[in-house]
Amino acid sequence: MIGGWWSSIDRPKTFRYNGVAHEWMILRCVVSMMDEILEKLEESVARLSEINRAIDESMIIAITDVTGKITFVNKKFCEISKYSAEELLGQNHRIINSGYHPKSFFREMWRTIAQGHIWQGEIRNRTKDGQFYWVDTTIVPCLNESNKPYQYISFRVDISERKKFEEHIKRIEQLEIAAQISSSLAHEVRNPLAAIQWSLLSLPDIQPSQQMILKSVEDELKRMDNILGDFLSLSKPSTKVKYPLFLQEILQKALDLQSQFLQKRNIQVIQKIDKTLPRVNSEENQLKQVIHNLLKNAIEAMPDGGKLEIIVDTKVCKNDNFFVCLTMKDTGIGMNQEQLTKIRQPFFTTKPNGTGLGLMVCERIIQEQGGNIEISSIEGKGTTVTVCLPAL
Ligand SMILES: Nc1ncnc2c1ncn2[C@@H]1O[C@H](COP(=O)(O)OP(=O)(O)OP(=O)(O)O)[C@@H](O)[C@H]1O
Ligand SMILES: [Mg+2]
Repeated sequence: MIGGWWSSIDRPKTFRYNGVAHEWMILRCVVSMMDEILEKLEESVARLSEINRAIDESMIIAITDVTGKITFVNKKFCEISKYSAEELLGQNHRIINSGYHPKSFFREMWRTIAQGHIWQGEIRNRTKDGQFYWVDTTIVPCLNESNKPYQYISFRVDISERKKFEEHIKRIEQLEIAAQISSSLAHEVRNPLAAIQWSLLSLPDIQPSQQMILKSVEDELKRMDNILGDFLSLSKPSTKVKYPLFLQEILQKALDLQSQFLQKRNIQVIQKIDKTLPRVNSEENQLKQVIHNLLKNAIEAMPDGGKLEIIVDTKVCKNDNFFVCLTMKDTGIGMNQEQLTKIRQPFFTTKPNGTGLGLMVCERIIQEQGGNIEISSIEGKGTTVTVCLPAL
């Protein structure tokens, strides 16, 4: 307090300094003004540091120089990206790039901020351990006296949950469309198919040389019927009654059925199954269908053999609820980001004989049972699919 000591001393009205007379009163006035300014300054600094703390606690913040090099990250940035500050400082934001956005997206962003304008958008990033997260991002350029940016401050908010919900709604809409197409198609095709099957059965005097041809026609008809079955299972909600069962037991049955085929395809199966798992509320045939579809995909992804790791354990997911989870990790061809975004769309397939419905059927069944399916993949390395069902 400058004014404090001053007011306590009784001073004469004028004094001389460097031969000039000064009014004590003026000096007194200046000192008390300075006192007031200092007080306000202290208040502003305190308020600013509160705002700073609030922003720091609620937002993911990073500062980069004009070349894009990260010069500052806050605690939230490290938490969400799972990188330490040391790992991030000096790096480019490419370190968290998920490969989801086209190059033109970032080119446009850089063009905007380099011109000194604020950029806003939604970005999908990748954590150190390969998980994706979405952030609503605002990048503010800091400008020098000649209005040129000398650094960029980015403020991000985690919107992963909202994105997941939006994707979920989109998928439900797609399922509805697929369901409508499927039901009309299945009804139209199933009747003539049945007629062909009956006609084949009633063919008179088949020569032994024709047996092979007949067999392959029958096999193909059966395949078509199975595909139509998939179409129909998309179109109507399941009326199957659910009951408590052990997921690992159904898995074992499905694996037993495929064991010879897996061996023939040179696929080594490694099982890690928790023996004390709780039951799930499900229906055996539907669960078998899910496991069969996922196994089929893994096998098809490893045409030259490989390793299939199967883990069954429990996880705590949504609202602290317990889930029994089946994870299948293959070492197959994997998928790139573009494929990964499309695999849940109806009829998306990269296989010459695929219908692109396998995963949708799985998803429909699992969602109906209150569970969810997560898929991650690295091109050329393999795919991991995790199916979770609420534990009883
Ligand atoms: N384990 C996997 N490894 C690599 N790609 C996969 C895997 N699982 C699914 N995919 C990709 O997802 C696409 C869609 O899979 P989905 O099971 O829905 O249909 P499909 O396998 O093509 O045909 P269908 O299951 O009807 O025979 C596949 O074509 C493939 O590109
Ligand atoms: Mg499939």
